[in-house]
Amino acid sequence: MERIKEYDRFIKTLLKEIPKLIETIDMGPVENKTGIRDLVTEVDRGIEKFLTEKILEKFPDHQILGEETYDPEKTYDLKNLWVIDPIDGTTNFVKQRNDFCTLIAYFEDGQPILSYIYEVDKDDLYWAMAGDRVYLNDQPLEKPKDLALSQSIISTDIRRMNGNRPELFQGLLMESFGMRSVGTSGLDGSRVIAGRFGGYLNYRGGPWDFAPFFLMADLLDLVFVNLKGEKLDLSDYSDYIIANKKVYDDFKKISDQLGL
Ligand code: IPD
Ligand code: CA
Ligand code: CA
Repeated sequence: MERIKEYDRFIKTLLKEIPKLIETIDMGPVENKTGIRDLVTEVDRGIEKFLTEKILEKFPDHQILGEETYDPEKTYDLKNLWVIDPIDGTTNFVKQRNDFCTLIAYFEDGQPILSYIYEVDKDDLYWAMAGDRVYLNDQPLEKPKDLALSQSIISTDIRRMNGNRPELFQGLLMESFGMRSVGTSGLDGSRVIAGRFGGYLNYRGGPWDFAPFFLMADLLDLVFVNLKGEKLDLSDYSDYIIANKKVYDDFKKISDQLGL
């Protein structure tokens, strides 16, 4: 435990550097990755480089799975693996300069050990350590209440969910108390973790988008699975839902009725 606490202190010192780092990096031209709405900037690359170099300097035999350097051909060793999304919500970063976060999750032998969702503009850190609790800054978070979908705000990536699963999207929209989209997996998910949203669904995220949820969902008794109800792993892109149990059951009823 002392060893992991020391890892935790180290990662928190790195996260503290991020606001300053963002100011010093020239954003450069905004580039497209897989499509016109999939953006990347020099800030994304600069933060990933900074975190990767610092982590590997301290732990030379550990591995990094970072969004901007991800190699689909490579097999990532799960023994000591750090999964990084340097800026989650790049669209928000480019268009509004807020509502973005940095995500880090650490795994040992495939087990989640440490998780971080750092909401940069608010300087809020959601974090968790295995065998301990989930915290927002210094405050431990309570297990979110189980509320039915009809009583809950839920969130999703509106464009992609509506485009790819229109019937499910409509069903959730009509059955829920309300639907929102912060526009970053990490921050939409953090609201489920903090009990503000009943659930968050993603149509297709990479391991870096959902890695922190394994530990946080486990410690808070939330459901975190793919849309077929299967356990996720870190080896591929996937759809997913993180939700309280009642919202998950109501989601399941809708998706079963639709035969998904
Ligand atoms: C994206 C955001 C978005 C989610 C996508 C992610 P990025 O991450 O989290 O909300 O719907 O699945 O890829 O590209 O801004 O790091
Ligand atoms: Ca992301
Ligand atoms: Ca990103």
